[in-house]
Amino acid sequence: MILSKFWSEVVNRLTPYVPGEQPKIANLVKLNTNENPYGPSPKVLAALQAEVGDNLRLYPDPNSDRLRATIAEYHGLAPNNVFVGNGSDEVLAHAFQALLKHELPLLFPDITYSFYPVYCGLYGIAFETIALTESFEIRIDDYLRPNGGVIFPNPNAPTGRLLALGELERLLQANTDSVVVVDEAYIDFGGESAAGLVGSYPQLLVIHTLSKARSLAGLRVGYALGHPDLIEALVRVKDSFNSYPLDRFAQAGAIAAMQDNDYFEATRRQVIATRNRLVADLGLLGFEVLPSGANFIFARHPEKDGAQLTARLRERGIIIRHFSKPVRISQFLRITVGTDEQCQALVEALKQI
Ligand SMILES: Cc1ncc(COP(=O)(O)O)c(C=O)c1O
Repeated sequence: MILSKFWSEVVNRLTPYVPGEQPKIANLVKLNTNENPYGPSPKVLAALQAEVGDNLRLYPDPNSDRLRATIAEYHGLAPNNVFVGNGSDEVLAHAFQALLKHELPLLFPDITYSFYPVYCGLYGIAFETIALTESFEIRIDDYLRPNGGVIFPNPNAPTGRLLALGELERLLQANTDSVVVVDEAYIDFGGESAAGLVGSYPQLLVIHTLSKARSLAGLRVGYALGHPDLIEALVRVKDSFNSYPLDRFAQAGAIAAMQDNDYFEATRRQVIATRNRLVADLGLLGFEVLPSGANFIFARHPEKDGAQLTARLRERGIIIRHFSKPVRISQFLRITVGTDEQCQALVEALKQI
């Protein structure tokens, strides 16, 4: 169907990603887009303030050298193992175009981050989805077949389920002819990062974001870790698209965030502790909650409809995320772990409902 004669063929065919709502109403309990309930480190705020000045007339460093060196040091890697972008969504987009477009189909789970099929549509990438198990787990054996690449989040989204690092390594040992991308947006809330495997597997690309555990969704910074050849592919795409994806604020703020380990540890531990309490509270209300390694949980009630629960929570000023498709997850609620007070408000509202 032609939507507009002025649009290119690819735009006519696109089905864009729909991000979670950013409400304009104040005082909502916002548990719908997996942001951190705690603000960024005070050192980040100071670094941002220090950037306000005459230098804003100058372009930022196109290669974000200081930030890449800081990230490399944090992970025990070299700067040429690091690529940075405007949020991990941009890093992912470049990876799809640079590394995952081949004749054989790209493989990813049937229930996963819903941006992946959107990138495939944008770049014309053939893909096949692999069903999660009955218990919503990724089974590596299902991926051991010829492919043009493999991508999944770990922990997976929106399920929150974590894949053991040993299982990923089993895939990497068998899958040596195509790139394996592990999207670790939520890894700091309970999992072990694959960053330490980058030196051993030249086909591994690990993607991180500062939007979640570093409380900087508003600054838009994400990065990839991988063999220098993979990183160079991303740089080639970036320099054919936008030379300055990170502005001066993003670079300065991200450096400060990566350096403030104490703040990072304190806030992520707090989120994990609140998550554990929330899981217990929802269990008492009869919810089935999938084991979560993330800053969100995925839960369903055996008697209450997922869409209706979401609507009734909203009437009470609490927003969470509900996916009506695929049918297999249509009864689940995806709830971001907020502060203790926010989670308590959610539990009280669910009790009333
Ligand atoms: C699995 C996963 N990957 C990547 C992202 C993108 O994060 P950002 O673009 O903010 O870095 C998200 C955002 O929610 C996500 O859930």
